[in-house]
Amino acid sequence: MTESGPGTWPPAPMKTERLVLRESEGRDRAAFVELFSSPEVGTYVGGPRPREELERAMPEVPGRRPGLFVVELDGVMVGMITLDRRDAERPGHVRPDAGETELGYLFLPEAWGRGYAAEACAAALDWFADTLPGEPVVLCTRTGNDRAMRLAAKLGFTEVERFEEYGAEQWFGVWPSVTPSG
Ligand SMILES: CC(C)(COP(=O)(O)OP(=O)(O)OC[C@H]1O[C@@H](n2cnc3c(N)ncnc32)[C@H](O)[C@@H]1OP(=O)(O)O)[C@@H](O)C(=O)NCCC(=O)NCCS
Repeated sequence: MTESGPGTWPPAPMKTERLVLRESEGRDRAAFVELFSSPEVGTYVGGPRPREELERAMPEVPGRRPGLFVVELDGVMVGMITLDRRDAERPGHVRPDAGETELGYLFLPEAWGRGYAAEACAAALDWFADTLPGEPVVLCTRTGNDRAMRLAAKLGFTEVERFEEYGAEQWFGVWPSVTPSG
């Protein structure tokens, strides 16, 4: 993704078999608060944040920025997917000039275990491949995060390296699996 995000942002809402991926809206606010305050969601991603603080500080329309998809099931937000530029200072690169696009996913625990994250991420990756053909997408997750690791493998990410960060072992992978070299 470019500095300001892909030129086509926001794309029209994308429908999958069961879900819709779209830009965030004001009606998603409660789900965003839930997502960031959930201890289960926060286990491997920096821990939950206090609900009161989120209620106070969360913008009226949270998460409205290029690369952030709200994932909706039957009209209600169940998770979010991000395609962001990875900080060049962080470990893990597949391009000499860094600046890779990184996939992130956070879903509400009620929606886990039904393949929704996999279905939505596949659609987001398809969209990205159409928008910026040939650009790799990277992904970093703690090796202890079983669900995130299984999802990465299911989506077709392959391991580039592992390293220590934030006091834990991290898995760093790339999609598609053939890494363009520069
Ligand atoms: C990571 C996360 C998105 C994975 O969610 P998930 O629901 O486990 O992922 P999937 O969409 O791939 O669903 C997989 C499960 O759905 C099951 N499933 C049920 N119905 C299904 C269907 N119709 N199609 C596909 N899978 C289905 C699969 O069998 C699988 O179960 P299993 O993992 O117990 O074997 C979720 O756990 C999460 O939000 N975690 C907290 C945030 C986080 O850590 N993010 C990663 C940061 S790097």
